[in-house]
Amino acid sequence: MNIAVIGSGYVGLPTACGLASFGNHVVCIDNNEQKLAILQSGYMPLFEDGLQELYESNKSNIRFSGDMSDIRNADLIILAVGTPMADDGSADLQYIYAAADEIKPFLQNGAIVATKSTVPVGTNDEIERIIDNKNVTVVSMPEFLREGYALHDFFRPDRIIIGTDNVDAYNKLRDLYAPHISPDKIIRTSRRSAEIIKYASNAFLATKIQFINEIADLCEQVGANVSDVADGMGMDSRIGRKFLNAGIGYGGSCFPKDTNALAYVANKHGVHLGLVSKTIQGNHERRQNIANRINAQIDKIGENARVAVLGLAFKNGTDDVRYSPAIDIIKNIRHNQIYAYDPQAMKNASNVLGSNVKYANSLHDCIENADIIVILTEWPEFREMESATFEHPTIILDYRNLLDENVMSTKENVTYKRIGK
Ligand SMILES: NC(=O)c1ccc[n+]([C@@H]2O[C@H](COP(=O)([O-])OP(=O)(O)OC[C@H]3O[C@@H](n4cnc5c(N)ncnc54)[C@H](O)[C@@H]3O)[C@@H](O)[C@H]2O)c1
Repeated sequence: MNIAVIGSGYVGLPTACGLASFGNHVVCIDNNEQKLAILQSGYMPLFEDGLQELYESNKSNIRFSGDMSDIRNADLIILAVGTPMADDGSADLQYIYAAADEIKPFLQNGAIVATKSTVPVGTNDEIERIIDNKNVTVVSMPEFLREGYALHDFFRPDRIIIGTDNVDAYNKLRDLYAPHISPDKIIRTSRRSAEIIKYASNAFLATKIQFINEIADLCEQVGANVSDVADGMGMDSRIGRKFLNAGIGYGGSCFPKDTNALAYVANKHGVHLGLVSKTIQGNHERRQNIANRINAQIDKIGENARVAVLGLAFKNGTDDVRYSPAIDIIKNIRHNQIYAYDPQAMKNASNVLGSNVKYANSLHDCIENADIIVILTEWPEFREMESATFEHPTIILDYRNLLDENVMSTKENVTYKRIGK
């Protein structure tokens, strides 16, 4: 197929490189000149494990352009532009509607427009109205990839949802994936159901995280250990162990905005999603609660405390700091000597954090002489601390429950605290 991907970001690029590796010809469009210049010089402008390599081995099938007329021969146009959170909590749809308007003059008869951007129910109806072409089919094809595992999720997805009543369009999209991906993973739904599947999935996962954080608070009060509780719960196949890691709450470019957008849309339709609203509120309060815990430890040591923060990305495996809990928590730490380290996200974080944060070159530089070490992202390399020695009294606040508690709680000079214990 000739495929155009509109939006060369965390979704667009893995999708484009993955589809190119199936032998399709892909043009990626982006209107961010800086990003485009990096792409056109042969580099991926974001960190995603394996993406640069996948691009390099398929580059004869991919090109990058800022000129929308380059989609002219496309059989399939994938919309993968951002749908960020607006001030009122709704999804800001200006970019997706602008993209629909911009592709409109270049769509050939029989083309399929597939929306991978996460959009509220009914948005694809509006995209169809904007495109206003009976020979073009607008399909909802929500994306479920996880940053940090984007290529794994592209090649081995749990499911591919194709939301359309048009069987011909469905067959073409299924045939695009079916030779490479188990056909039983591909299902057809109505367009509106597909739109809701994406939001309901993210809201459910967010709720699971908020749930275990509430259980963690109870464990702390009664002398239980939330990690053991999660292991015990997770062995129930109806529940599952994933997303039961207690910590600092969810963040990132998806869960915060998608839970808010879902609640907003439901409200507009006269439906109150009480559980989702409570999850949003609880997750918001969690960030302040974690900052309070850190501030309490700093107060005990005093204003000269050296505080090392490990992790800025919203999770490991990415340089993405959008709605990262670590960023919000740092903003709420009352202290002017914060040293931070993240293997990938320091550049992005420095664009949003104030000047009271200094950046270290390595894990070692960051934690050297620290009085308090706070773990806010679960990067595996932080586990090197398990074999480190600490020369002076150090409080380690492991708010991702990353380190081996048996090792850390017996270390000389270390007071080790974790979530839910
Ligand atoms: N990031 C994720 O993990 C993830 C997972 C699943 C779904 N999604 C959804 O996918 C969508 C994209 O997310 P993302 O993280 O890839 O965003 P992103 O910000 O990384 O990328 C979007 C890109 O679109 C470009 N763009 C915007 N308007 C354009 C236009 N008119 N023409 C050309 N390019 C344009 C931007 O310059 C940007 O490079 C969102 O709706 C998001 O909710 C994201």
